[in-house]
Amino acid sequence: MNDLEKLKEEALLELKQVKTKEELQEVKSKYLGKKGVISSLLKKIREIPPEERKEFGRKVNEVKSALEDALRRREEELKRSELEEKLSKEWVDLTFPLQRTAGKLHPITLTLERIVEIFRGMGFQVEKGPEVELEDYNFDKLNIPPDHPARDMQDTFYVNREGHLLRTHTSPVQIRTMLKQKPPIQIIAPGKVYRRDDDPTHSPMFHQVEGLVVNEYANFRHMKFVIEEFLREFFQTDLPVRFRTSYFPFTEPSAEVDIGCVICGQEGCRVCKGTGWLEVMGCGMVHPAVLENCGVDTEFYQGFAFGMGVERLAMLLYGIDNIKLFYENDIRFINQF
Ligand code: DAH
Repeated sequence: MNDLEKLKEEALLELKQVKTKEELQEVKSKYLGKKGVISSLLKKIREIPPEERKEFGRKVNEVKSALEDALRRREEELKRSELEEKLSKEWVDLTFPLQRTAGKLHPITLTLERIVEIFRGMGFQVEKGPEVELEDYNFDKLNIPPDHPARDMQDTFYVNREGHLLRTHTSPVQIRTMLKQKPPIQIIAPGKVYRRDDDPTHSPMFHQVEGLVVNEYANFRHMKFVIEEFLREFFQTDLPVRFRTSYFPFTEPSAEVDIGCVICGQEGCRVCKGTGWLEVMGCGMVHPAVLENCGVDTEFYQGFAFGMGVERLAMLLYGIDNIKLFYENDIRFINQF
């Protein structure tokens, strides 16, 4: 009995000195393993006088469970100290000063923000519309009939046969705004648009900013003023601007807006194709059919609208000659703005 007590003390001491999982495993098999001290003691029970066997067995089992408990506890301790060591070694200094600047806004984001800020300054509200749009809003309600060439599969990404498509312009936001809001309306709608186009000057996804003003007195001169103000503010120079008659199904009369070439100062270059002029947006008085499609009473209200391509404006502002540079996300390009 005394030997058993001594054995227990010894084993517990050994356990205390264990430093690693491997050492723990060794102690475990030495005492509790199949050929360990405890099981060989239990085998010796036959050599014990019968009247002492019960007491002996009880004592051996007591030592066994004491050892098992101690092992479990030691294992927990080891795990905890291993974790603590790891935590103290692998810390990160969050206050360490960075060698590099964090990041840069993309030139398209910068250009969008620049456009939005100018119009905000003129009292325009910003509206957003979905990129997956109803065919009805993208075309029909904008007075673009089903047989219009813009509806051709060549130009439009159709999502399904139930009238959903990727919007080909931001003009459907005009429709959404007029359907939910009564005049006076004075909004711009920036966002992504999609077309089945892909060459050095066209990307299948690009950005537009739409503008819409509807009230009792909106007229062509008002529109001309807003657009000229915007362009001079955007390019920060008093550049020449001209309005050229054009056609859009959703405006009448319609115009395209040209600015004096900012690349060559109207001398004639590759970008303006020798003309000295650059087309930057479309605009016009909102067609009465469009107003009526949205429940706007044309007895009282009239409006003007405009739409511009953001990539094109960004290329002219920064002097970028390839639209693809915007989508490659080469940090050497983006860092320049
Ligand atoms: N939606 C036209 C396009 O994508 C641009 C445009 C032209 C918008 C004239 C207008 C507008 O609001 O009045 O080419």
